[in-house]
Amino acid sequence: MTSSSLDFMVSRQDLRQGQWQTTPLPALSDGEVLIKVDHFALTANNITYAAFGEAMGYWNFFPAPEGLGRIPVWGYGDIVESRHPDLSVGERVYGYFPMSSHLVIQADRVSKSGFIDRAEHRAALAAVYNAYLRVSNDASHAAPAEAAQSILRPLFMTSFLIDDFLADNGFFGAQQVVLSSASSKTSLGLAFTLKQAARDGISIVGLTSRANIAFVESTGYYDRVVAYEDIATLPRDPTVFVDMAGGGSVRAAVHSHFADQLTYSCSVGGTHWEDRMATPDLAGPRPTLFFAPAQIKKRHADWGPGGLDKRLGGVWTAFLADVAGWLKISEGRGPEAVEAIYYEVLEGKSRPEQGHMASVAA
Ligand SMILES: NC(=O)c1ccc[n+]([C@@H]2O[C@H](COP(=O)([O-])OP(=O)(O)OC[C@H]3O[C@@H](n4cnc5c(N)ncnc54)[C@H](OP(=O)(O)O)[C@@H]3O)[C@@H](O)[C@H]2O)c1
Repeated sequence: MTSSSLDFMVSRQDLRQGQWQTTPLPALSDGEVLIKVDHFALTANNITYAAFGEAMGYWNFFPAPEGLGRIPVWGYGDIVESRHPDLSVGERVYGYFPMSSHLVIQADRVSKSGFIDRAEHRAALAAVYNAYLRVSNDASHAAPAEAAQSILRPLFMTSFLIDDFLADNGFFGAQQVVLSSASSKTSLGLAFTLKQAARDGISIVGLTSRANIAFVESTGYYDRVVAYEDIATLPRDPTVFVDMAGGGSVRAAVHSHFADQLTYSCSVGGTHWEDRMATPDLAGPRPTLFFAPAQIKKRHADWGPGGLDKRLGGVWTAFLADVAGWLKISEGRGPEAVEAIYYEVLEGKSRPEQGHMASVAA
């Protein structure tokens, strides 16, 4: 019987201060299962969860001692103990985990395809994060695909929904879509989806760090790739800005360059998490936070059951086939490896083509 979990935690005040804690595991109550976390992905998205842990409730998924936070990650685990009649030891599941060796879940609404954690501290959080998929019952599941699924799938859902939201709104009358952090996997997924749709008169422009230009160009997803320093060289055509970087300086530069030619400013991410430059007097429209659940709800109503999944599935399959040409997946196992990957991603030192998987278990 496993008696404790090894948990990676960070200071909520300083994400550079990580530490390991060994937490005793309680004896399971009726309905609970113990999951041994096998492996998970780490990208800038997880750093954003931490940077917005307080503001957006991401610290609430996995409780930690005062002042510390457990960063959520997407990955796979195995049920190693069960007190739920419909969930057996040995079942493999996909979902939202802490950077830990183990997690106890109060399983509820168990169906053939999955279940939820109904723990009280998670009840107020978005349902999508509380759902676990029973991959043992998923005929399409294949072990080699787990890394791509963990690294890209949670991001690609947003990429797809932004493309859909923009198309649904006639691109707000714009002729170009400008994406910041063009090298991020979420932006690459969006650029790929925009490109696949091949809409007349819509040009796809990526903004990135100079060091990432060659890689971003090599994907072929963007019509044009420009360094942050060269924003002023872009044509002042009617433009939608999709902001994955979230930093004040890039936001200010884009708004001031396009000004009244900016037809919509869509705020999505925060990869430039340390650039907190205030932008009180932005030219052009106020940035609007992209709220994926609203677009999901709309499409469920428009397209009916399964309609969204069917449409997303087609582009996702095409994207997966394409990323196989550039995504370099590596896996680090053991606490030291987990920490090294975390700090590398935190500092933005990973190459964009890198896909990190990590595992607390050695
Ligand atoms: N709202 C939503 O529903 C939602 C859903 C999915 C993702 N997102 C957000 O989209 C963003 C992208 O996530 P991802 O997982 O796709 O990222 P990723 O692939 O890990 O992105 C890596 C890129 O982000 C930039 N970057 C990363 N760390 C940095 C640092 N410390 N300083 C400066 N730049 C840094 C660099 O791009 P450049 O050089 O090109 O800037 C880097 O190549 C995240 O903020 C994520 O939270 C939001």
